[in-house]
Amino acid sequence: MLFKQQVLLRQKLFVLGSLAIGSLLYLVARVGSLDRLQPLCPIDGRFGPRSQDEIPLRALQFKRGLLHEFRKGNATKEQIRLHNLVQQLPKAIIIGVRKGGTRALLEMLNLHPAVVKASQEIHFFDNDENYAKGIEWYRKKMPFSYPHQITIEKSPAYFITEEVPERIYKMNSSIKLLIIVREPTTRAISDYTQVLEGKERKNKTYYKFEKLAIDPNTCEVNTKYKAVRTSIYTKHLERWLKYFPIEQFHIVDGDRLITEPLPELQMVEKFLNLPPRISQYNLYFNATRGFYCLRFNIVFNKCLAGSKGRIHPEVDTSVITKLRKFFHPFNQKFYQITGRTFNWP
Ligand code: A3P
Repeated sequence: MLFKQQVLLRQKLFVLGSLAIGSLLYLVARVGSLDRLQPLCPIDGRFGPRSQDEIPLRALQFKRGLLHEFRKGNATKEQIRLHNLVQQLPKAIIIGVRKGGTRALLEMLNLHPAVVKASQEIHFFDNDENYAKGIEWYRKKMPFSYPHQITIEKSPAYFITEEVPERIYKMNSSIKLLIIVREPTTRAISDYTQVLEGKERKNKTYYKFEKLAIDPNTCEVNTKYKAVRTSIYTKHLERWLKYFPIEQFHIVDGDRLITEPLPELQMVEKFLNLPPRISQYNLYFNATRGFYCLRFNIVFNKCLAGSKGRIHPEVDTSVITKLRKFFHPFNQKFYQITGRTFNWP
């Protein structure tokens, strides 16, 4: 009898304990998400009268919820219609530069409640076959969002593809364009590393970076090598400037996004006329990865895939010096045009 009572008592204590722990976890999670939502009112005032471009802050809170459920395939078409979810053309595009940190930038901006990212690279403007499918095809590739949110896509090939500026201009001449750059030689080596890894995966051999980057006949920098050409940022930007004024571009420092992402993201928020909502809470340094990772709330966080942040092969220092010298005048021009100076050698 006494034993039975003890068992019952233990069961009751277990249930009560579970309830208490559950409530505690719920509260902690709530506080975590409230932490992100808290600065609603002060920001509202700071932004002054609302312009067409601004986002009503009420709408920001709904980002996760139905939208998230829909992405997981749990929301019905009727719910989408009722909640006024739409597939919108992007208001901003990360046009490049390949290996500059385009994925990190997109994922980090997606922390903002008013931003909805297109997860895949769409390659609409740089791929003739896709472009021929028309703008509706492009729109249908966009994620569902609330009308007051903005969609952002990234396809780094846009930056270097001849036809793209005119095509984007035809879609939206006032679109905002984001370019993330890294020190050009490092970017070129990163570019090479990605190709090298692809070759290795297919059990193929590949040239050394030095062999590709330096012309063996002239011993000069090989400007025919794509990884070198892509890093001549000013040449590509000049083509874009035939269609868009410089004010429509924002340059992100990809090297700083690695070491100190928040200030870079805050500048982008400003450029996009978004209220500042990404905070240090959303970014934490993961020592194992050696990079900042993303924290959406107390339960959900993620790091970028392992393909981001590869170890670069060692490159002959004389080749690095040669490349840096080669890029130097182009970099100066790039600083001049963009009004943003970097400490590149
Ligand atoms: P490396 O692999 O050379 O280190 P992209 O997304 O345009 O391909 O750029 C990839 C680069 O993003 C990586 O280049 C990496 O250095 C950089 N990066 C910036 N922030 C990162 C982050 N938080 N996690 C992983 N990689 C990041």
